[in-house]
Amino acid sequence: MTDKKATLSVEDKNLDYAVISGSIGPQVIDIRKLYAQTGMFTYDPGFTSTASCDSALTYIDGDQGILLHRGYPIDQLAEQSSFMEVAYLLLNGELPDGDTLSDFTRTITRHTMLHEQLATFYRGFRRDAHPMAIMCGVVGALSAFYHDSTDISDPVQRKIASHRLIAKMPTIAAMAYKYSVGQPFVYPRNDLSYTANFLRMTFSVPAEDYIPDPVIVDAMDKIFILHADHEQNASTSTVRLAGSSGANPFACIAAGIACLWGPAHGGANEAALNMLREIGTPDRIPEYIARAKNKDDPFRLMGFGHRVYKNFDPRAKVMQKTATDVLDKLGVKDPIFDVARELEQIALQDDYFIEKKLYPNVDFYSGVILSAIGFPTDMFTVLFALARTVGWVAQWNEMISDPDQRIGRPRQLYTGPDVRDYVPLDKR
Ligand code: ACO
Repeated sequence: MTDKKATLSVEDKNLDYAVISGSIGPQVIDIRKLYAQTGMFTYDPGFTSTASCDSALTYIDGDQGILLHRGYPIDQLAEQSSFMEVAYLLLNGELPDGDTLSDFTRTITRHTMLHEQLATFYRGFRRDAHPMAIMCGVVGALSAFYHDSTDISDPVQRKIASHRLIAKMPTIAAMAYKYSVGQPFVYPRNDLSYTANFLRMTFSVPAEDYIPDPVIVDAMDKIFILHADHEQNASTSTVRLAGSSGANPFACIAAGIACLWGPAHGGANEAALNMLREIGTPDRIPEYIARAKNKDDPFRLMGFGHRVYKNFDPRAKVMQKTATDVLDKLGVKDPIFDVARELEQIALQDDYFIEKKLYPNVDFYSGVILSAIGFPTDMFTVLFALARTVGWVAQWNEMISDPDQRIGRPRQLYTGPDVRDYVPLDKR
């Protein structure tokens, strides 16, 4: 709370509202009593001016291009830590020491296997099902398999559910892939790291040994870190809203996966790579830039623009460097990467993109890397969901532990017909 007040004049009344400060970032006006005092709601479609909760997890300054998890800058975490460390940090608030990290990693590793009955569940899907459809269904179904971790009023059960979700997501994602290509499911191995284990479950076959390439493991781990959490984005808000009704954690994360799937959110990495492939060669870039600027054409440059970042997305910088590392290591000369780099340069110098502050976002380069590693495009959003599960789970836990937590229930500006009498069928 600050000494500041915000005064609102409504008709002949002046109403004062408290201004609350966070640790950094914009202050907020506490309007919780507004409706009771004025009979009016605030109107904010898309929630561009609304703080829906308080949170100590992630901070974004979109004008400066800053992203912090528990205070630590994302570029430092991506360069120096591991996904398991970041997961621990997001869940618990502090970086773990060596022993704590080993314990946490061991706990997650021991939860990576799936209930065997779930393998049968996969077989109910068509082979050409989108892996996000499978992931949504399987994660939602987890609540039918793990009854001992669905009581949200029990902190121990919440913790076990959190560990299970983080641990099982790579297994679920890898199985969705294996199912689509008609290969046998590969069980997790406890002697591998979280990320190496995921790559092995995805790319190994029983016919030969698979040794994960450290450069690829490192790149994948960075990609997971870069996607781990991102404040109150659409899917996280969905998880919180679903959780606010007391729904079990598996159902809440399935809701988050559903929201992430959309092309304006997590689906953008798939859409960005498809767009780069469609452009194909640098000489066609101007045509697509012109389309993106044309008001009558719904086309947008996928992987460009962000609701919050009006400066470079700090994750995009790490992603671009990782793309270079992976392509160099694999010796891949992918013309799509050249298209991406050139498109970025041209867009960054174009008045339309400058005026609207449209910069590459995290999804612009991730598709190039994932494709070089060998993932088909329809797996991209699945990988995003795998990594974001940590953020969703941490945000869900934070919400449930908040004593001020209430069911999320936005209101509306009603624009439908006024009250009218029902007309019987024969009189219409
Ligand atoms: N290409 C061309 N024009 C764009 C783009 C784009 N990628 N993004 C925004 N604009 C234009 C809009 O047409 C609009 O122009 P107008 O003011 O003349 O009407 C203006 O910029 C503002 O755009 P909004 O859609 O109002 O911005 P909003 O904050 O609601 O949307 C979003 C952000 C959804 C990310 C948008 O930039 C977009 O659709 N980008 C492409 C999809 C994408 O890459 N999404 C990934 C986001 S990152 C993530 O989820 C991890």
